[in-house]
Amino acid sequence: METKAAFRRPECVKVTFRRMKFEFEDTGFARYWVDGSPFKSLFWTQLSTAFEPGERFFIDSARALKDQIDDPALREEIAEFCRQEGHHTAQHLKFDRINEAMGIDVAGCRRRYKWILDRARNNMDPMGMLGATCALEHFTAALADDFFAKPSMFAGADPKVKALWAWHAAEEAEHRATCYDIYKQLGGGYVDRVTILIGAWALILGAAFVNTIILLHKDKKLLTTDTLQGLWYLFGRKGLITGLGPTFFSYFRPSFHPWSGVDAGTIARWQADNAKYIQNIATSEAA
Ligand SMILES: [Fe+2]
Ligand SMILES: [Fe+2]
Repeated sequence: METKAAFRRPECVKVTFRRMKFEFEDTGFARYWVDGSPFKSLFWTQLSTAFEPGERFFIDSARALKDQIDDPALREEIAEFCRQEGHHTAQHLKFDRINEAMGIDVAGCRRRYKWILDRARNNMDPMGMLGATCALEHFTAALADDFFAKPSMFAGADPKVKALWAWHAAEEAEHRATCYDIYKQLGGGYVDRVTILIGAWALILGAAFVNTIILLHKDKKLLTTDTLQGLWYLFGRKGLITGLGPTFFSYFRPSFHPWSGVDAGTIARWQADNAKYIQNIATSEAA
């Protein structure tokens, strides 16, 4: 069993619910909204469909155990975490509906993610589900850090859609430690958390890849040079997936904590750059 971690955050970080309104829901966007590339666009388009079942899983995992947490600061953070994740889903569903209206098989992609998550629900106890949530939150935080550190990831993307992903990235970075701290405070073990990490990352990356290939095939865009470039975008020397390697392995350190060695300034910079999309900020105390 691991030792209890202190509830630590950088000074400038406070997990906060923000109500958002994005322009894309009024204007729409092109089917291939990332640099005109079918592969890159459909990769992110299919990933969006994971959030409705995925974030429901995260919220349920945190809520199932929150009454066992004594720390009032962490309890308050759990409430904000759940509100953030719920609002991510709501905004991504708007994005998904526009994709669906363009004839993209959003429902099929979401069904494959849900199938995996339902198996996890049926076979894991509450601490196991929380361990899976920690592993997947580590994944979303890794993508979020890369979103801000590697502008090439969304180069050429429609700025109206990119704003959705920037917000989601900022809040994933912000609440990166919420579930991990629940897990540690409740005595979650090292072997379980790293074993679950391997399975969870393999399953989400596998589902993402299968969904992308299926969408490309349906669009008759699979056997193209764009697909070769897309594979390099994911698996090349500095690719999206290969680039996640160091972050993946950092989770194996016994002393790992989601905030160690992370640049918390990205969240403040995002807020400064994207204030126009924030409708209001309501914390638990104010709500
Ligand atoms: Fe989220
Ligand atoms: Fe999250």
